[in-house]
Amino acid sequence: MGDMLELEYDEDMISLLEAVWGEGFLSPGGTEEVDRVVGNKDLSQASILDIGCGIGGAAIHLARTRQPGRVTGIDIEENLVHKAQELANKKNVSAICHFQRVDPGPLPFQPCSFDVVFSKDSIIHIADKFSLAKNIYEVLRNDGWFIGSDWLSGYEGEPSPQMQAYIDAEGLDFGLASASTYQEAFNAAGFVDVEIDERNAWYRNQARAERDNLAGPLYERLVAQVGEDFLNREIDVWDKMIIVLDSGELRPTHLRARKPA
Ligand SMILES: C[S@@+](CC[C@H](N)C(=O)[O-])C[C@H]1O[C@@H](n2cnc3c(N)ncnc32)[C@H](O)[C@@H]1O
Repeated sequence: MGDMLELEYDEDMISLLEAVWGEGFLSPGGTEEVDRVVGNKDLSQASILDIGCGIGGAAIHLARTRQPGRVTGIDIEENLVHKAQELANKKNVSAICHFQRVDPGPLPFQPCSFDVVFSKDSIIHIADKFSLAKNIYEVLRNDGWFIGSDWLSGYEGEPSPQMQAYIDAEGLDFGLASASTYQEAFNAAGFVDVEIDERNAWYRNQARAERDNLAGPLYERLVAQVGEDFLNREIDVWDKMIIVLDSGELRPTHLRARKPA
């Protein structure tokens, strides 16, 4: 990521996203989607790293439901990490759930520190998938897993005008890549059993429901919280996103890869 002088996820954005996606979440699907991402993988006693933990929803859900040994959430925005730690305290998991701010770039952990590296919809912000995959591989113990979800592109090269319009409307620092780039990056790092499970159909429906919720039942409350202009801009983002979900250029995807024993 480039230098970030502005917060990408400020208070208004956090309020809006939590209203649509649930307490602690800056990504779709809430705790149910975290359960689908992790599936029946046994995390008991596991040491878990959550890359791009945001305000902690996923990490805290894992801490509450999967009996891990320890969950470490990292994010580049101090305010998010702070909120995540507050939520962990509120949910009584702060003994095993810690959050820390990191600088963009190499993961600041010793080799072989984690049994599982998890990430939900955050790698999109990290442009160099090859360096990241290599870095995840290094911090994982042998036979450890990367388990996560992310927003991938359904195209190689330049985005269409519709996709560019969506990216511009989001205003986020996106580093989108295709499934084949992710596959190559995981393979090049040394991972095996790479699984890429495309979730476009699920999110196409979900995004429509979210958009209708924003423009309907949530509208008055959110106008009071974030203001009408901000809310209307975000509804426009959803409209633009639905176009590129329908075209298949934006592809939410579950990802898994194993570091050999
Ligand atoms: C869409 S949000 C998802 C947050 C959280 N995983 C969730 O599901 O609610 C993306 C997150 O990635 C974080 N992020 C962006 N670049 C990052 C980087 N280089 N390292 C770690 N986190 C990063 C952002 O600050 C943001 O919190």
